[in-house]
Formats: sequence, structure tokens, C-alpha cells
Amino acid sequence: MFRNQNPYSVSRSMYFANGIREIIGEKLKGMGCKKIYVVCDKGIEKVGILKKVVDIINAAGIEAVIYNGVIADPPIHIVDEAAEIGKEAGVDGIVALGGGSPIDTAKAVRVLLSNEGPLKVERYIFENAQQARPEMPLIIVPTTAGTGSEATEGAMISHIDENGGHWKKILECVSNREKDMSVIDPELTVGTPKEISMGCAFDVLTHAMESSMSIVTSPLIQANSMTAIRLFFKSCKNIYHDINDLQARNDMSLACTLAGISINRGYVNCGHAFGHALGSVFGVHHGIACGVFAPAVIEFYAEAIPDAVSSIAEIFGIVPEKGEEINSLSERFARSLHAFSTDVGVDLRKIVKNKEECFKIIPQVMADYSWRLGLKELDEQKCKWIIERTYEY
Ligand SMILES: [Fe+2]
Repeated sequence: MFRNQNPYSVSRSMYFANGIREIIGEKLKGMGCKKIYVVCDKGIEKVGILKKVVDIINAAGIEAVIYNGVIADPPIHIVDEAAEIGKEAGVDGIVALGGGSPIDTAKAVRVLLSNEGPLKVERYIFENAQQARPEMPLIIVPTTAGTGSEATEGAMISHIDENGGHWKKILECVSNREKDMSVIDPELTVGTPKEISMGCAFDVLTHAMESSMSIVTSPLIQANSMTAIRLFFKSCKNIYHDINDLQARNDMSLACTLAGISINRGYVNCGHAFGHALGSVFGVHHGIACGVFAPAVIEFYAEAIPDAVSSIAEIFGIVPEKGEEINSLSERFARSLHAFSTDVGVDLRKIVKNKEECFKIIPQVMADYSWRLGLKELDEQKCKWIIERTYEY
């Protein structure tokens, strides 16, 4: 066990506190920036967060150029468009403001603006991709607690092939520690609508769970992930009942960043293969799509990594009875996690009526690279088992 572990590694400098956004201006100034490209979506502008951050940038004597055209699961053409506009404006640094989609778009735009050649992100995401050299200063300011993209090196970019198939491609991007920063201010997540908050929360949970059950996990990654799961468990229902609960938001943001550090090297696996497929076939929020399968995924991996599964179950209050085997414990935990999830609206039955219809996602699950990082091989029969199991709880 742990022979294939990846080293525990944090990809950039990270600042975390309520109100810490005030340092953004001085940090940009310290990196010599004069004209900043703020990459976000229209929602961030609408709720007033964009203005708050632009005011801080301007107060440091720095000009801000806005790109607010990011859409969910950013596709190639949005990245290319944002890069064109940034190049034309002559920006010398980037602030990524928003959830996973603006952050991933900004990471990709930064690669295009830092490297010579055509402003085409496909150069960096397909086979034989060029090595990205990120040189332009980047500050990531998350406004949701979900993707953990503030702690990871890669960016997920969507690609639609000639047959209409939707695929996620990773733009691998080595951090430049001198010019890479995340400023995580949980206050910016307060008030995020309930459904989006729950989607993000289950993204956090599945990142923490899957990274502790991957072929490259390590005791360091697992310890980090267990802390994230504890913080998720403490705060999830509080956020569901009060979207303005600052303490719960603080805990969930912390869980999110910790889980982000875990997936930076521990990666995700089978749950995300299912989540990517369900998300693209049925158009569901990424975190919900991954979260609905978490109970069955836990059962699926339980025998392969019993210690991690027992530790996760214990956080949820499920402890082994005398002489109880891991299969029995994981089944009890899976039922308990399913009940916890449905209590906050995370429920596969709400998305797809029955298992037969859900079997449609299997080809996409099998085509997704993520499950190969899990501790067990997946095939069509096992996919069916995970789906059937999820409808049985
Ligand atoms: Fe995720």
C-alpha cells in the first residue's frame, strides 16, 4: 500500500481569512502589475462581487480590464476569445474571480498570454500538447467552495467533438510559485443560493473521499482529506438551512481548499467518471452529479482500502460493531450517507427517474480517464452495479 504515492504538494501561495480580499491590490502591485485582466462571469457582476474586487484593484493604482463572458464548463472558444481580448488590451496580470469555470478559464488564458504563438488553447490540451509556461502573474479569488481549483495546477476545458460528444480535457500547467497566488475569502461565498452551495459542497466531499481512495494516495493526502471531510460534515447542513451562516461558510471554504490540495496530487477517480458522464448527458451541476454516486462508490472501493473507508464512516458517526467486516460497515455507511445527501436535495432519483435510463451514461463513464486512478478496475457490469446500488438505497 502507498507504494505508488504521489508526493504531497501545494501548487501555489495561498492566503485564507474572512476579509483577506483586501490584500489583492497590494499583492498585484508587488508583482509589478499595472493593468489587470479580471476574468469572471455575469453572475459575479450581478451580485456585486466584481465591483468589490475591482475597487480594491483600483485603490492600488492598477487599471482593471473585465472579461465577464465565462460560461459553465468553459469550452475552447470562450478561452480563445478571452485570450484575444486580453492580448488586445495589453494586460500584464490576471485575477480569476468566481467558481471553477472562471478560475479554469483564467488559468488557460494565462497560459495563452504567457506563451508565444497562436491564441488557441487546443495547442495545450490534446495529445502531444505543448508544455505550458505560466509566466504572467495570477491571483485566484474563489467565490464558491467547490472545485478546489484555487489549489490545483490544472484547468478543465470542455471540448465538443465532431459527433457532438462532450469531453473534459485537462490543461496541465506547472505553477510558477513567484507569480501564483490564491486569496481565499469565505465572506465572498456567503449568500450563494442553496442548490449551488450543495452542488459545490458535494464536489468538496467527493474530492476528499476519492483522493483518499486513489492508486496514488498517501498518508499525507489522506490526513488532509479527512480534515476536509470533517469540516464538510460540520458545515454542510448548516449552510443548507442558512446560506448566510458565516462560520459554516468559513468551514466549507477551508474544506474546499484542503480537498483541492488533496486532488492536486491524489486526483479523483470513479465517482468523478460517473459525475462527468451524468453531468454531460443530463446537464446536472458537477458536484451534484458526483455526489449522488458517492455512497455506491464508497462500497465499491471498501475492500480495496478498508482503513480509509472506516475513517470516513467514523466522521459520519458510523463505527464498526464488534467483529463487523468492512463490507457490512461500508454498506451501513453508504445508506447513512445516502440519507444525509437526500436530506439536502442531492438525490439521483430527482435527476433520472430510473436505473434503465441512467444506464445511458455508461459508455461515457467507461471513456472517462478518471476511474483508472481508482483502486479497482471498472467495466460495464461494475458500472451497472454502481447505478443499481444507488437506486436501491
Ligand atoms: Fe470535482
